[in-house]
Amino acid sequence: MAEVADFNPLSATIADDPFAAFERARDACPVHHTAEFSPEFYSLTRFSDVLAALNDAHAEIWSAESGSSPQFNRPIGFNQDGANSQEFRKLFRKWLSPSAGAVNAELIDATIHDLIDEMIVDGRTRGDFATEFAVLLPIRVIARLIGIPPEDAAELKEMTDEFLGAFCIPAANGVAPAVARLNAYFAPHLEHRRALLREAGISEPAERDLGDVLPDDLLSYMLVLRYRDRGLTPAEIGYVLATALTGGNDTTTSMLTNVIHRLLERPSLWQQVVDNGKLVQTAIEESLRLDPPVLGLFRTNTEDVTVDGCPIPANSKVMLLFGSGNRDSRQWEHPDEFRLDRTQKELRRHLAFGAGVHFCLGAQLARSEGYRALEILRTRLPHLRLDGPGERVPQWHLWGRRRLPVRWDDPQAMEQG
Ligand code: HEM
Repeated sequence: MAEVADFNPLSATIADDPFAAFERARDACPVHHTAEFSPEFYSLTRFSDVLAALNDAHAEIWSAESGSSPQFNRPIGFNQDGANSQEFRKLFRKWLSPSAGAVNAELIDATIHDLIDEMIVDGRTRGDFATEFAVLLPIRVIARLIGIPPEDAAELKEMTDEFLGAFCIPAANGVAPAVARLNAYFAPHLEHRRALLREAGISEPAERDLGDVLPDDLLSYMLVLRYRDRGLTPAEIGYVLATALTGGNDTTTSMLTNVIHRLLERPSLWQQVVDNGKLVQTAIEESLRLDPPVLGLFRTNTEDVTVDGCPIPANSKVMLLFGSGNRDSRQWEHPDEFRLDRTQKELRRHLAFGAGVHFCLGAQLARSEGYRALEILRTRLPHLRLDGPGERVPQWHLWGRRRLPVRWDDPQAMEQG
């Protein structure tokens, strides 16, 4: 197997700027082996290889049953293959996919306006876009969808970071404390809903109770839904809530910081978006391609396999590098450039939300948040600009900014002027 001496996805240098190393790997060593993690793992770097693995609908080779993290986990919920995963996904389409974006349009807009109001209060003209906007928008939206208080945002962010950080710990049970904390957080909210059912004398809750006896939210839905003629187990409930909370906020935060960073880095690009609202969707898609919030996730191969001439022994953890596939010159011209003139077809091919049977269930919700955020920011803060260097998020498999200092002109002063 070829070697690319300086490609180690865990190293600090690569974490700082993974894309140059991805490019070298794509050309010289498209299947990379990393021995510095436990368990050791492989990485696929070319677009076609990553897509082929994602499109293995019946998991003939690439299984999701050991989980999408580098550790070997047991199959549960979305982390199943074939019909089992489809059956589980179907239960949550209503909550996490297209309708969620539409149903929450009003909530998304109101939240964006509130956040901008908070940023510009008392004539303030500088702040941190990451912590004051990008973190709070998705947390407030997902909190409402799940049915938890948006005022808990700081705690929710902390728990999310702990959970995502544990993803990178080389130990099978590394995530256990983070899961325990999330379960402890959700427990009283679930208990409150169980008490409502008891008070109403309902022993077999059903969907008709949502919005009537129970609040119409994901927490209540966990208690009424039927899966294989039974209710969800506590482990399944905890797993879904953790996935919705953590998968549903940090990634969207990164998408928002990444797109704003790219546009402000070259002010002429931001000006184009300010002048032409039709470019909002293009900017979001191009950002997802160039700077995907999740650089890669894992599958496990069920049998010995050879990819690009490189043998991978059965039962290996294999990282599918969306971040590398998205910059493959075999797919895109000038792949390292952020461009606002790519065609929709070209734009939408990216792998930021995965592909195939495990395609992100929250993609439409995330896109809605991105579109509305850019649309409202370009009209309310048209003179937004960078105000110093930002700071990368710490987890090596993720890509976003936890600090992004920005400045803007005081909208009130502009009106008076
Ligand atoms: C920009 C924001 C987002 C990005 C980049 C993103 C990325 C991804 C990716 C790459 C996958 C595929 C996992 C795989 O193939 O193993 C995925 C799956 C998933 N995402 Fe997202 N996501 C985002 C937002 C959201 C939101 C807002 C939610 C929930 C409200 C969500 C919920 C899920 C769920 C439940 C799955 C599992 C689907 C399955 O395995 O069948 N995501 N996401």
